[in-house]
Amino acid sequence: MSNRQKTRPRPNPRRAFAETYGEVLATGIERRSVLTGLLALAGSSVAMPFLGGEARAADTSTLKFTELKRVRDREDHWPEGYGRQILARWGDALFTDSPAFDVAKLDGKAAERQFGYNNDFTYYMPLPFGLDSSDHGLMIVSHEYATPFLMFPGLKDEDYREKLTDDQIRAIMAAVGISVFEVRKAGNKWEIVLDGKLNRRIHMGTEMAISGPAAGDDRLKTKADPAGRTVFGTISNCNGGITPWGTMLSGEEGSMDVFAGDFKTLANQELVERQGWDEEDNDIYGVGRIEPRFRFEEEPNEWMRFDWVVEIDPLDPTAKPVKRTALGRFTHEGAQCAVAPDGHVVVFMGDDDDFEYLYRFVSRDPWNPNDRAANRDLLDNGTLSVAKFSSDGTMQWLPLVAGEGPLTAEAGFGNQADVVLNTRGAADLLGATPMDAPEGFIVHPRTGKLYVAMTENEDRLAAGEGEEREQVNPANPRGPNPHGHLLELMPPGSPDKPDYAAASFKWDVFVLCGNPAVPEEGAMFHPATSDNGWFTDPDNLSVDPAGRLWVATDGPPPAGIADALFVMDTEGEGRALPKLFYVAPVGSECCSPTFTPDGKTVFVSIQHPGELRFEDDEDATSIADAGTNWPDFKEGLPARPALVVLSRDDQQALGS
Ligand code: FEO
Ligand code: CA
Ligand code: CA
Repeated sequence: MSNRQKTRPRPNPRRAFAETYGEVLATGIERRSVLTGLLALAGSSVAMPFLGGEARAADTSTLKFTELKRVRDREDHWPEGYGRQILARWGDALFTDSPAFDVAKLDGKAAERQFGYNNDFTYYMPLPFGLDSSDHGLMIVSHEYATPFLMFPGLKDEDYREKLTDDQIRAIMAAVGISVFEVRKAGNKWEIVLDGKLNRRIHMGTEMAISGPAAGDDRLKTKADPAGRTVFGTISNCNGGITPWGTMLSGEEGSMDVFAGDFKTLANQELVERQGWDEEDNDIYGVGRIEPRFRFEEEPNEWMRFDWVVEIDPLDPTAKPVKRTALGRFTHEGAQCAVAPDGHVVVFMGDDDDFEYLYRFVSRDPWNPNDRAANRDLLDNGTLSVAKFSSDGTMQWLPLVAGEGPLTAEAGFGNQADVVLNTRGAADLLGATPMDAPEGFIVHPRTGKLYVAMTENEDRLAAGEGEEREQVNPANPRGPNPHGHLLELMPPGSPDKPDYAAASFKWDVFVLCGNPAVPEEGAMFHPATSDNGWFTDPDNLSVDPAGRLWVATDGPPPAGIADALFVMDTEGEGRALPKLFYVAPVGSECCSPTFTPDGKTVFVSIQHPGELRFEDDEDATSIADAGTNWPDFKEGLPARPALVVLSRDDQQALGS
């Protein structure tokens, strides 16, 4: 989720886990290896989450660090025996000529040379590309959005739009997008290589190409771009992925943030509505004041040119980024890449909104490992599909192809441009499974399995209530689901040759989030999970070089813990036994853990420290105070978003 305010779990009584999941069980689910494991451990025929007061099972995790205590304050916390470094903060220099950060003098020109705001996707790419260097690499980072009233002195949530100066708006437009910069380890510290040849900032003014089936379509033509093939800027760059040839895929998630005016004046209201636009969320930066294209009344097609996946070549600072329309248009979270045995490239994507879908793109042609340039336009041709889960433990990838099945011209899908411009509408017709706000996907490189995070969905209803689309289904078994869950997807084929392009996978519930000590929450973790190890609101997922799954959270309810990083085994006796590794300052979101190949360093992005996410947060009035161990920039303003590095003091592998 981008800037959209999340709400607290509703106070009304929730359905007990046993009741709702029991209903699902009755429909025929017979997989669920976590449950199977619990059954084996409990020796019982009834699937039970761990309940407080029972004897806790033995800790069988391979992770040996001392777990943190759940904490929620204005500092960040890491395990004993580990060190934490702040590698980059909003406004830090990325080039030798970057101006010193001074919020009073900030404008677009300065911000274009500095680390951006609200860093989300984060990836350490060893340099030289293709080798496994753990002390020299490229950091590839997206900056999802800006929070103007937290950035500049004197602004408040209620009135910042009117008070923002043009220079501040231009600074915001330059502070979102992408940062690429070289980093190097000197001793035990990491540093930014300011004269790195690959250092680059991409922002709302960067020229990009539009390619794939929607390129040149009338709906993408504007006054400034009558060909419909060139657009300036990328926005709402949430999570992403890295292709096998080393380009970054950045998911544009929620362009509504930027556009101003009345979207009810737009031509296709059905599409506007299906895109999930909401008056409260639009125009958060005031950019329409200085760039007419961001006002609906001035340029009714500009909004269609965002909410795509953008491909960026971090190894060529002169390469023009490309919006790949073949991958569909929706609120793109990430874009996880995998390669099928025949060399076809597969991209897994979540659409981060309540009741939206999981998507997959399979390239028409295989990639060429020996010729990087040959892969340049690989993602322009292929098949986009959407996921449908069945209660028998299988799932199908249903192709979204114009002219196939219900995607007829009569239904509004005369060609593939129609499909990608209204991806959600096409997926609706195919009967895809509505998910609980899907966020991160990760491919496990050892087992071939995929993990996918559903953050939460307060509006999910129990079976029989409301419309069918809103009711619980096998893969989203709790209604409401204020805590989220993780699914495990298993492509056919052997672990070393999984067929990610296959039409059908198997699937399983990996964990159901929540507090295992509160039965009503219906949590399902390994029974040895400690009082500190359980989590809610999973967002980004990563796998470290030792094969463990890392989960970064986004927006737990304001009680007990701030956003944090948890880590667990996915196989063996410690499967689904999470441990609390790092806690961010209150109000932040923990994003995108990424590792050096030696497994000794993890980088993690911390967005929006101090940003309130809950109307009735009891810390609301004090949160704007500076934290005590976090890098602040001015008294009375919240801390800056930053990129954090964590490693063991003795420089051994993480978690060992
Ligand atoms: Fe930007 Fe879906 O979180
Ligand atoms: Ca999120
Ligand atoms: Ca996210």
